[in-house]
This record gives sequence, structure tokens and C-alpha cells, in this order.
Amino acid sequence: MIEVDNLVKRFGSKIAVRGVSFTVRNGEIYGLLGPNGSGKSTTMRILAGITPPSEGRVLVEGIDVAENPLEVKKIVGYIPETPALYESLTPMEFFSFVGSIRRVPMEELEDRVERLVKAFGIEEYLGELIGTLSFGTQQKVSIIASLLHDPKVLVLDEAINGLDPKSARIMKELLNDFKKEGKSIVFSTHILAVAEVICGRIGIIYNGELIAEGTPEELKRFAHEESLEDVFLKLTESQEEVSSLIGALREAF
Ligand SMILES: Nc1ncnc2c1ncn2[C@@H]1O[C@H](COP(=O)(O)OP(=O)(O)O)[C@@H](O)[C@H]1O
Ligand SMILES: [Mg+2]
Repeated sequence: MIEVDNLVKRFGSKIAVRGVSFTVRNGEIYGLLGPNGSGKSTTMRILAGITPPSEGRVLVEGIDVAENPLEVKKIVGYIPETPALYESLTPMEFFSFVGSIRRVPMEELEDRVERLVKAFGIEEYLGELIGTLSFGTQQKVSIIASLLHDPKVLVLDEAINGLDPKSARIMKELLNDFKKEGKSIVFSTHILAVAEVICGRIGIIYNGELIAEGTPEELKRFAHEESLEDVFLKLTESQEEVSSLIGALREAF
């Protein structure tokens, strides 16, 4: 379970997150949606114990991220927006390294690496240097590495971006399995169709504030819109702007 209460994050005089509160229950996939720069990644870095909050309280499985970020890191699997990998290691070396710092028993580690590598189809790259791999393959390496310690809580920042359709599908199935196991999952994306299918509840974050929350159905009803895309555009005030931009674009051709 993740409990976020009145979270504020400042960078100097800039406020990236302005009093956000939400809860992610066990066995729930919670989607954080919002335009670029709205504070999704900042929020997720705080949930993962990477950056401290400026104000407010965040509990991950009851552990306060401000008081005990190391304990939080132990139980969270975090996939950053941009893969943070060691470019001069091979994926196999990287998995062994992550497994050893995570203290994953050797047999478990080998078993998980084998299954995940097969699921994401990266067998042929295991011996190549990570720095030479494509963005999509690096993303897969990053995903696998984040799952090796079988975390109770998953914080996935745009984790499906950059994946080919087959791997995106596998990722979705994997998330569903994790949900059934009772893990708490926070998932940010700007691909609304993905959020609609995967997430049980969605929070829409705009300019550092949570402006709406609910199941995809509730959000559609609330905004009187047919699709989550329309809800999103309406709530983030982009709808009129998009219409006028499209109008201008049409006139140009
Ligand atoms: N380390 C940082 N220093 C200064 N400003 C930052 C930092 N990280 C994020 N920001 C700012 O905080 C705001 C929210 O960013 P971010 O959380 O990355 O948004 P999102 O993931 O929704 O695109 C942006 O205006 C961004 O420029
Ligand atoms: Mg981001």
C-alpha cells in the first residue's frame, strides 16, 4: 500500500508538486496521468525513496520515505523514465550486479532472469554492452532489473514507452499477474488507451495538482465525455487549444 498525504516538492523557488494526496491499495494499479511537466516523475521519484519530499507524508507499506528511504528502496521496484544503466556492462553482468546488491539468492535470481529475458525476447543481447543497445532494449533491461528482487510495490514511470507491441503486451500481462499477487502498482503514462485498459483507478495531475481521480468509467461520467482522451483534454484545459491548433493546421493545407 502507498499513502501519499499532501505531498509538496520544491526545487528552489519552483514548486513541482503542490499538495498531492492519493492512496494505492494492495492489488491495485493506479495510473498517474498528466501533460509533460505536471509533476508525475517527481512524485514517482519520491515514492521510490530517491528524492525526499519538501512537505507532506508518503508511506510505502507503512514506511515513511522521508525517514527511511533505504528501507523503501528495498521493497520498491522503480523503473525510471530514462533507463539508468551501466553502459559498459552487459545486461547479464548488470543483472548479476543488481541481484547481489539486492541480496537475491542465486537460484531465485537465475530463475527470474531466465524467465524475464525470455518473456522480453532479449536473449541475443545478454552479452553485448548495454551502451550499444537500442532504447527499447535498454528499457527492457531496466524493467527486468527492477523486478529481480520481487518487489512488493512497483513504481513505473512511463515504463511502456519505447516497447514494441509484443513487449508492451507482455508487460501488461505481467502487471496483471502482479496485481493478482497483491502488489501495489503506480504507473505513469501519457498513452491514454494503455491507462484505460491497465489501471483500476486514475489520478489526473496537472501543474503539480491532482485535479481528478476515479476509475476510467467514473472519470468519463464525471467529465461527460466518451473517451479518456477527451476527459484528459477537458480537465487539462487543452481541448479548445487542440481544436484551434487542428483548425489552423487544416487551413495550412
Ligand atoms: N531536479 C529538478 N530541478 C528543478 N526542477 C525540476 C527538477 N525535476 C523536475 N523539475 C521541474 O518540476 C516540474 C515537474 O516535472 P516532472 O515531475 O518531470 O513532470 P512530468 O513527469 O509530469 O513530465 C517541471 O516543471 C520540471 O521542470
Ligand atoms: Mg515524467
